[in-house]
Amino acid sequence: ARALCGVVALDGPSGTGKTTAARRLATELNAGYLDTGAMYRVATLAVLRAGLDPTDPSAVAAAVRRTRVEVATDPAAPTALLNGEDVGAAIRTEEVNRAVSPVSAVPEVRELLVAEQRRVIREALAVRGGIVVDGRDIGTVVTPDAPLKVFLTASSDVRARRRSAQDSAEGRAATFEDVKASVERRDQLDSTRAVSPLRAAEDAVLLDTSELTIDEVTAKLSELADGRGLLG
Ligand code: DC
Repeated sequence: ARALCGVVALDGPSGTGKTTAARRLATELNAGYLDTGAMYRVATLAVLRAGLDPTDPSAVAAAVRRTRVEVATDPAAPTALLNGEDVGAAIRTEEVNRAVSPVSAVPEVRELLVAEQRRVIREALAVRGGIVVDGRDIGTVVTPDAPLKVFLTASSDVRARRRSAQDSAEGRAATFEDVKASVERRDQLDSTRAVSPLRAAEDAVLLDTSELTIDEVTAKLSELADGRGLLG
């Protein structure tokens, strides 16, 4: 089997198939998988559980400083831990969806989590040789020297439809209109924040997934990695 050497940086808004494709790619290529969004979600859950206002930057920064945010990089079991507790399901609620943008806009939160992300990436490169990293600022901030950066896009209708299907499959009920509003609101906040906004790196490959299946997205990513000479 072919194995990934190096970092693949995958950025883009939610509902582009990024997370599913990233996990599949990592599995196929025997690489690690890092879901940086899960880390911002764990930090957000810590803020909410402490009863703090997610829009109060100094309270948020203090809470996150006290919190241990850990993620596992096995693509078969990408667990997320809050002070050692598995919070994989608790970080996917609508309450967390609503609070995660203000929390992830706090500079100190980003500093803490980016440092941890870089540590995890170094470790995965040493242990497995390759890692697929999924987020918003991976190609621009976290690993600007990644040998392959891909920025995934899709129309907001398609993205809301995908989010909606994922929500129903996981037992969370919400109308399509609500999901679409939530997706658009979060993208708007993530793209316009002052620190590390969601944007494509200059040297990122743009991939519109509106008309592609997950298999097609995964195959395309694998082909791009191969083209860069990253498959050993
Ligand atoms: O990928 P996701 O939907 O689970 O990400 C949740 C939120 O975390 C997203 O709305 C913005 C934030 N995020 C970020 O600011 N930077 C990242 N690298 C990843 C996610």
